[in-house]
Amino acid sequence: MDQNEKKKAVAHAALKYVEQDSIVGVGTGSTVNYFIDALAEIKHKIEGAVSSSTASTERMKKLGIEVFDLNSVDQLSVYIDGADEVTEHKHMIKGGGAALTQEKIVAAVAKKFVCIVDDSKRVGVLGKFPLPVEVIPMARSYVAREMVKLGGDPAYREGVITDNGNVILDVHNLEILDPRELEQKINNIAGVVTNGIFAMRGADVVLSATDKGVETIE
Ligand code: A5P
Repeated sequence: MDQNEKKKAVAHAALKYVEQDSIVGVGTGSTVNYFIDALAEIKHKIEGAVSSSTASTERMKKLGIEVFDLNSVDQLSVYIDGADEVTEHKHMIKGGGAALTQEKIVAAVAKKFVCIVDDSKRVGVLGKFPLPVEVIPMARSYVAREMVKLGGDPAYREGVITDNGNVILDVHNLEILDPRELEQKINNIAGVVTNGIFAMRGADVVLSATDKGVETIE
């Protein structure tokens, strides 16, 4: 199986977590795009979705899936999203597509977070993938200096403005041995909106596509 076939397989496997007549939390990225396509096939069985990005909203609307404002929804039974890295503890790095803040918000509302990846995303320790940090534009240089103090090597993601009007620093060379601690530490820096470590609220289930099929890690 090539990587796209794996993404497609894992996206279809996630459908079993979608409850009848529910509103589904939907993430962002190339793996989620396959999930949105699969969700469109059963759109008559659900009420609709809450989206984590403009890109996912547009794709869902085009396919006839109703998209709700998160403020009009009390609870989501499930949030389905990809990741850039995921560990056996179901901690993740996310934000390669710059949608991390809205992803974290929608994930926080959902009862269950189902992470869908191909096996190239599985790691022992987080940090090889540069950690995305969403920053208020005026704080960019300050936050970058703070990242250096934490042992990282920040790079400004030029030309990218998030859906919230902010910028992204990609922090290289971090070996994230305590993801929960680092997630909180970075979020406490003035000017940081959020960072791409998802450990305080990690995934509940990881579906990982391998050559042999889709593995479930609970
Ligand atoms: C978007 O900001 C990210 O968090 C994505 O969930 C992550 O980058 C995974 O994307 P792919 O499925 O495209 O690898």
